[in-house]
Amino acid sequence: MSCQSYSTAQPTSPTNCAGVIASGGVKIVAFLCNWCSYAGADKAGASQLPVPAELTAIRVMCSGRVEPTLILESFQKGADGVMVLACHPGDCHYKEGNLRAYCRAELLERLVPQLGVDPRRFRFDYVSAAEADRFSQITNEFVDQVRALAAIPFND
Ligand code: FES
Repeated sequence: MSCQSYSTAQPTSPTNCAGVIASGGVKIVAFLCNWCSYAGADKAGASQLPVPAELTAIRVMCSGRVEPTLILESFQKGADGVMVLACHPGDCHYKEGNLRAYCRAELLERLVPQLGVDPRRFRFDYVSAAEADRFSQITNEFVDQVRALAAIPFND
């Protein structure tokens, strides 16, 4: 597997991010893979682990389905932070979707500062279906980090 297999040929926007961003406090959009992090989030909820209320989860069938434009659109429409949580390397149900997502995340981390967005407002990480504790820890860390940053220029 390599980043060379990355393609921009992806499906169109699955959702209008502005419509799902919660009101009040910081607004975090989290794209969660159906097979791993979404199940991890579900397990975290069932286990009554702390999950930030600021999180708006968008379930996708694979992290590889999340186009960079969806992440940028989320920022543009008012998200204070955006996460993409994928299956661990080697566990993607579609073989290389998480690698594609990883490559895009690297690209976005270089791109967003040029758009006036602090790169700490974006996080790509891995969470399996069994890792409810990890889901809780990562999401709470990220929300705390975003909360500590100044208001985002895109919100104007
Ligand atoms: S199926 Fe989970 S990242 Fe691809």
